[in-house]
Amino acid sequence: MFYSGRIIDNLLISDKHYLMKVSTPFIQPFIPGQFVMIRAWQGTDPLLPRPFAIYSWEVVGGQNVLQIVYKIVGRGTVILSGLHRGDEVQINGPLGNGFLEPEGAEKFILAGGGIGFSSVFPVALHLKGLGKEMKIILGARTDKDIPPASSVGAKSIEGDVTYTTEDGSMGFRGLVTEVLEKKIEDIGIASREKWAVFACGPAEMLNTVKALSAEKKIRAFLSLENFMACGFGVCLGCVVKVAAPDGYQHVRVCKEGPVFSSDEVIFGD
Ligand SMILES: Cc1cc2nc3c(=O)[nH]c(=O)nc-3n(C[C@H](O)[C@H](O)[C@H](O)COP(=O)(O)OP(=O)(O)OC[C@H]3O[C@@H](n4cnc5c(N)ncnc54)[C@H](O)[C@@H]3O)c2cc1C
Ligand code: FES
Repeated sequence: MFYSGRIIDNLLISDKHYLMKVSTPFIQPFIPGQFVMIRAWQGTDPLLPRPFAIYSWEVVGGQNVLQIVYKIVGRGTVILSGLHRGDEVQINGPLGNGFLEPEGAEKFILAGGGIGFSSVFPVALHLKGLGKEMKIILGARTDKDIPPASSVGAKSIEGDVTYTTEDGSMGFRGLVTEVLEKKIEDIGIASREKWAVFACGPAEMLNTVKALSAEKKIRAFLSLENFMACGFGVCLGCVVKVAAPDGYQHVRVCKEGPVFSSDEVIFGD
């Protein structure tokens, strides 16, 4: 079901990223890693709403406020970036399963690649609130692809973050998964059962996290960013393969995911 919301703020926070604050009729309790479908257009161009991780959804100054962080990619996000205070958007959510803390896990490594940081920050803020130990790794092509944590109200976790960029413009030069491998190795093998990895990013990154999880014997959970049409399980446009006793089965990323245990997801054809 879509709710109507009104834009409170739509702030440019770095080269191509925006923080959107929307006033909505209700506060929706959500699990970090869940998402909303948003549309701000009528007609057929574009046709479909777009999925965005819920950054926060809480009472602010007496108003119910949903926040998302988004990057301009194509037609839909260009339209969102042109919205102003008072403009209307339609919202459906919270959707999907989110990152649930697995039994026995007390400590966490959070890894975000590209726009994956927008799913990682709310998880990090949640775990920080619970007093959990965590390490955060955020990677992108260049520094312009990662807005400062302070610009999205995440200053409290800044000290836990290791940045990686492919061009070396910020932090470690290389891939987020290179730093992840090192951090996993630094955790003694005997302690790894107390740790879990939460990752969100492009499929190649998540496939590497899956391989690291198997090789290093650490639990990992992956949030997939598949293209979505309906967002609530009816169009079957987002299916992926997961391991099943007799081979594999198809599941919907929007409904059974977007978060899956790394040992169940099958990447590629
Ligand atoms: C569960 C989930 C949570 C997400 N959370 C966020 C978020 O918090 N912030 C954010 O900025 N983005 C997020 N995304 C990605 C976001 O939905 C897309 O960037 C957005 O839909 C692009 O819409 P557009 O109309 O601007 O681009 P389009 O014109 O639709 O697409 C431009 C190009 O990107 C490709 N593309 C679009 N979406 C995807 C996708 N999901 N996977 C692979 N290719 C794609 C298209 O095929 C096309 O080539 C999330 C996606 C998912 C599935
Ligand atoms: S997007 Fe329609 S079933 Fe997942």
